[in-house]
Amino acid sequence: MKHSPYTEAVHAGDDPTQHFGALSVPIYPASVYGFPDTEIGAAVHNEEKEGYYYGRLGNPTQRALENAMAQLEGGEDSFAVASGMAAVSAAIFTLVRSGEHIVAPQSMYATTTNLLHHLKDRFGIETTFIDATSAENYRAAIRANTKLFWVETPTNPLVLITDIESVASIGRDNGVTTVVDNTFATPFNQRPLELGADAVIHSATKYLGGHSDLTAGVIVGTREFIADAKHGAGKFYGGNIAPQVAWLVLRGIKTLALRMERHNFNALKIANMLGDHPKVKAVYYPGLESHPNHEIARRQMPGGYGGMVGLDLGTVEAGKAFANAVKICTLATSLGGVETILQHSASMTHAPIPREDRLKAGITDGLIRLSVGVEDVDDLIEDLNQALDQIP
Ligand SMILES: Cc1ncc(COP(=O)(O)O)c(C=O)c1O
Repeated sequence: MKHSPYTEAVHAGDDPTQHFGALSVPIYPASVYGFPDTEIGAAVHNEEKEGYYYGRLGNPTQRALENAMAQLEGGEDSFAVASGMAAVSAAIFTLVRSGEHIVAPQSMYATTTNLLHHLKDRFGIETTFIDATSAENYRAAIRANTKLFWVETPTNPLVLITDIESVASIGRDNGVTTVVDNTFATPFNQRPLELGADAVIHSATKYLGGHSDLTAGVIVGTREFIADAKHGAGKFYGGNIAPQVAWLVLRGIKTLALRMERHNFNALKIANMLGDHPKVKAVYYPGLESHPNHEIARRQMPGGYGGMVGLDLGTVEAGKAFANAVKICTLATSLGGVETILQHSASMTHAPIPREDRLKAGITDGLIRLSVGVEDVDDLIEDLNQALDQIP
């Protein structure tokens, strides 16, 4: 039976018949598991009997996280891995072969973009990068060898929105698999599989973990896709999650709904405040009616619009002055934790990139990416206002 997302976050994957009914799933650090006899050893190795035999191939703590994530995303099965990029690469390696073709957003998490360039150079897997704010651009980019539509929505860092339902439908009609990076939204805000996507990936480093204290990733999809991912990318490239980290993600998920509700609330209020501020040239937040794809976001993000807000202060100097003046907010590069952090891309992550290339990627001189935490929103607004006052 399906329950409210608040109840699901606390109880997803519960199995009172396991682990003596412990409310916190134990951490199984073992890298090796023994068998009572060769018959059982053979059955476990051949996957005819449930069990574990070697750390790289899973453990009961990892399995508990996978069960929880499958339930939260509404998928058949899941695979927990060592980072968000391990999830991205495992999904791609499972679905695409040398000589095949991918369609992906021209603006998204930069390391995913770089991975796709790397795949072209190393393995002859070509990607067409499109403006993903129009689903029809996916259709227009289809070739005879297209195997994968990659979707990231909202995107990092510009919080652009892609219409998941339309892209997945175009994919289905053309025999192309649609995978959605659901890191920014989380299953509390958006459930891509219910909208027709074939699989979902996460950087669990962000909202799923939620406390800036772990690195992990998750893939969710059909039983067949996850089995392929485990037998191929998992077994050969060896990126499965450590049991201690799986336990931390599981603990984080228990408060996912509470945290996301607060992230959503705080971010919307802050986006509205920034929109009214004379020193802010532009605000990017899917929850604002001024966002170009607000209507799509409203439809496909029933839980809320997330904690990520972009603001443009116009110049590199203004961006730096603001970033250096915040007091409660921390200048840092990740996102999705309980604490509010911000990044000025032009002077930090994108500083080594030529300005022209940076601008082409939509990273303007004064762009600030704000990961709004769960602190008191009035304290955050006061801090942001005093930092805006420091801009000459
Ligand atoms: C949208 C998105 N996907 C994937 C990743 C990669 O995750 P990780 O850093 O856990 O490898 C990130 C990291 O920032 C991200 O923002």
